[in-house]
Amino acid sequence: MTPRPEIEEYQTRFVNNVARVIGANFLRRRPTVRVLDMGCDCSGRQLAVISQLVRGEVVGINIPEGFPLPEAVVTAGERVRLLRMDGMQLEFPDASFDVVISANVIEHVPNVARFVAEAARVLKPDGICYMETAPIWSSARGHHLMESMVAENIPEETRYRDDGSIIPDWGHLSLSREQMADAIGNKVLDKTREYLLWYLYDSNDLNRTPWSGVCEAFHTAFPTVQLMPRPLPMVDTALMPDDGREDYSVYGFTAIARKQPQSWLAKRLYWRLRRVGL
Ligand SMILES: C[S@@+](CC[C@H](N)C(=O)[O-])C[C@H]1O[C@@H](n2cnc3c(N)ncnc32)[C@H](O)[C@@H]1O
Repeated sequence: MTPRPEIEEYQTRFVNNVARVIGANFLRRRPTVRVLDMGCDCSGRQLAVISQLVRGEVVGINIPEGFPLPEAVVTAGERVRLLRMDGMQLEFPDASFDVVISANVIEHVPNVARFVAEAARVLKPDGICYMETAPIWSSARGHHLMESMVAENIPEETRYRDDGSIIPDWGHLSLSREQMADAIGNKVLDKTREYLLWYLYDSNDLNRTPWSGVCEAFHTAFPTVQLMPRPLPMVDTALMPDDGREDYSVYGFTAIARKQPQSWLAKRLYWRLRRVGL
């Protein structure tokens, strides 16, 4: 099925990936499939599209005050439930979902290990967990200061770019606050520079978990995990740390995790379906 055009490009990609996971694992054949989206899109639009992929209930949880807004509940549709709940402390019984999904949330939760462990706990033994995100903190642009964030917070700024030209690639890992202030210099408004420095060094919007921490969280919580790292082409490697502690080239990832090992037959069918584009 084709997601609606009004949802953002990355959300459309996520929904397409979820559709592929559901299709390739025969979940559509089940009479009902219950889906949990951890840290869901608060508008309800993404969940509305996801609910068209399965028969069964789709539950979205998130934490902002005032969530869910009544219009989001209406948009999301009848089979979607929106609940205010912390992904690190889910109020669902064990093994209550067939599919657990999450997009672009992991870098924001205070404790990645608890978040992933909760996903595993509420997943049914034969269920599938699909998560993806970027950028990972240890990556070149792991500071997460995207152009849209600056535009939202400082609308008068026109020169900020998230391409390494303002915040040097890996600078958030290698530069002190003073060195970063010098590197940013007058390339942006003073107000923007202050905002960037605040987000980089003082904000707790990100958990600052490196790639190795993300991998450990998945491998601890799930016996079967496919972690597919995604690099970022065209980065300046001058400030890339060279301490051997991380794979600093990993920008983002997709993860497919299960509580049971996948059978040989299921794996063959999965790759056949992928080859024919399903
Ligand atoms: C970048 S947004 C992604 C939202 C949505 N998944 C999407 O793809 O549009 C990150 C979301 O993670 C949510 N979040 C952060 N910490 C959370 C937690 N402990 N439990 C649940 N959601 C959380 C935030 O409220 C925010 O909505």
